[in-house]
Amino acid sequence: MRFAISSRAEGAVRDRLPPRRRIIAPKSNQTNYVHNPTTFITLYYKTKLMTLTPEIQQHRKSTHDIAPYILNRWSPRAMTGKPIKDETLMSLFEAARWAPSSYNAQPWRFIYAKRDTEHWNKLFNLMGEFNQSWTKSAAVIIILIARKNFEHNEKPSVTHMFDAGSAWENLALEASHRNLVAHGMEGFDYAKAKTALHIPDNFEVCAMIAIGERADLNTLPENLQKMEVPSTRKPLSEIIMEGKFKK
Ligand SMILES: Cc1cc2nc3c(=O)[nH]c(=O)nc-3n(C[C@H](O)[C@H](O)[C@H](O)COP(=O)(O)O)c2cc1C
Repeated sequence: MRFAISSRAEGAVRDRLPPRRRIIAPKSNQTNYVHNPTTFITLYYKTKLMTLTPEIQQHRKSTHDIAPYILNRWSPRAMTGKPIKDETLMSLFEAARWAPSSYNAQPWRFIYAKRDTEHWNKLFNLMGEFNQSWTKSAAVIIILIARKNFEHNEKPSVTHMFDAGSAWENLALEASHRNLVAHGMEGFDYAKAKTALHIPDNFEVCAMIAIGERADLNTLPENLQKMEVPSTRKPLSEIIMEGKFKK
């Protein structure tokens, strides 16, 4: 089914939507004209969440039925180097903010640097050569840290890293929904990060994240072009065990 906005509603939504205004779901050629801008926006986002992107259709197949937006998230490396709007960046953090955590303790903290700011080099220089070779075209680099103890009683939180992982995935799903790259990284100097960014000892450094607008494959160095494909996963039979651990 296709949805297209009627000329009557178009003016009202022009500034509120991403550039591609037509919603296209691949299975039918029928076009439905929507007159109410709010309905159009709702349909646009619903359809987007429920449709596999062409690159995912080509490379990933889930063995059981799952929501398409989960498969649509992947970790490209090609980015344009263009800045992203502050408002967009805040939406990514907002998505992370709504992640679940033990005792709702929200142990995650995000230290970020936008390119062309005084902070960029401090974060960029933490990374190894491989990660620098493609994150040089990111718009934002983030370092995710997690508070090791609960704020309410200072007892150790066993799940602080697990909780921060949920926040990262929320951020990544929001980015993917907005056609942005969000790429997690462990290839950086964790110890140096603590000193360079004045991270206190009661926080653990989890990972870095590169954010940016997606670019064409051919903007990447050749060795990275081969890797720019959505990956697949172990079979369910290898990762689930009923009742007790099985080899
Ligand atoms: C915590 C974490 C650390 C990662 N570290 C790196 C890294 O240092 N460099 C890199 O290029 N990719 C890194 N990745 C990306 C993974 O290789 C990628 O997520 C994985 O292959 C699954 O692919 P997908 O994200 O496209 O589904 C990392 C991902 C995560 C979640």
